[in-house]
Amino acid sequence: MDSEISASAALVTRDAKVFFHQHGSSPCLAGLKSVSGSWIEDLDGRRYLDLHGNTTHHIGHANPELIAALKAQLDTLTFSPRRYANEPATALAELLTAQWPGGAAKVLFTTGGSDAIEVAIKLARVATGRSATISLEGAYHGHGFGAFGLSRAVPDARLGSFLPDRVHVRPYWKHGAAAMLHDIERALVSTPGGVAALIAEPIRSNCHVPPPELWPEVRRLCDAAGTALIFDEIPSGLGKTGKFFAFQHFDVRPDMVVLGKALGGGQLPIAAVLADTRFDVAPELALGHYTHEKNPLTTRAALTTVSIILRDGLPARAAALEQQVRARVASSPWLRGVRGRGLLLALELTQPPADEGRLLAALLAQGVSTTTKGDDAIGFSPPLTISEAEIELALDGIERAVRSLVG
Ligand SMILES: Cc1ncc(COP(=O)(O)O)c(C=O)c1O
Repeated sequence: MDSEISASAALVTRDAKVFFHQHGSSPCLAGLKSVSGSWIEDLDGRRYLDLHGNTTHHIGHANPELIAALKAQLDTLTFSPRRYANEPATALAELLTAQWPGGAAKVLFTTGGSDAIEVAIKLARVATGRSATISLEGAYHGHGFGAFGLSRAVPDARLGSFLPDRVHVRPYWKHGAAAMLHDIERALVSTPGGVAALIAEPIRSNCHVPPPELWPEVRRLCDAAGTALIFDEIPSGLGKTGKFFAFQHFDVRPDMVVLGKALGGGQLPIAAVLADTRFDVAPELALGHYTHEKNPLTTRAALTTVSIILRDGLPARAAALEQQVRARVASSPWLRGVRGRGLLLALELTQPPADEGRLLAALLAQGVSTTTKGDDAIGFSPPLTISEAEIELALDGIERAVRSLVG
């Protein structure tokens, strides 16, 4: 009977009727009422610590300073048609380029990470005069026909053909760094016409951290071949791993970095390609000519977010809180280790349960919303503003959930 269906379940049912169902998005877990700081609350009043947040909530959900900045922006300039400059867009570009280590940099903004990946590929193609890309098999770079084609060598045949000239190499997390370097070296010399770009996440959102020598060696190979090195930091950038850019954990500098997700403060969708000015070579081409490329609201969200991250030292806070998580896991019989850096972590289970659905349900029952990371680990990716007490609360919930499954 309708009267017995909770408000949350009723919304989930309506949602399932009108949205196309797709992997990773449906079925919905609950209907949401509000988000705040490290928490989400459903329509039935259940509260969960959000250890996922789609990696958008670096400064906490509904950050009051960000909300105030957006309200003020709504009272001033709400849209900027193409070919007009506006203050938040320009100030954001100035702030992001100022973070770029090394020479001068420029940016383009898009509304989502997948689009920004495509812009990065275009810049590399135009600057090198080549079209091929190298990416790591099983990586994820988004859902455009270009971006998703980087992710899988052989995507589902029902989707039809993807961009040509894609070369996929064996990833370090599955086959080791030597195999990956071997494949890259071979692809760089044997791909007809040469390779425009190699694209990879410097620290994977699945929390695999490569050995320190890997990226410097990839950089050396790319330099020798005249190939651009693009780092996708859509989930890992902006301080999440304990450094502003994830690549700063290694002795390497890419030619371009792609940022997204948390850039809009978890409120508004915006992504960015930040690249060396050497790539500013085709003013006659439309490279990322998107309707909302300089939207004053999305750029205000990003400007405020990046300013908060830098002002409050959130990268260093992520690095410090990582140590708290590691210390607690070291004493847990239910957790055997931690992968990742900063607050982009995966907690490895001593006894991984066979059923992912049961694990996630048990976590929700303990007030923890998250995802799995591979077959053997739970994602632990809270806001960088999470308190020490909330971290303990989250770990208590995880331990209780795991214990309830394994006896
Ligand atoms: C590594 C990586 N690249 C690209 C994307 C695509 O970003 P968006 O969903 O904003 O298009 C994602 C999204 O999850 C991602 O994790």
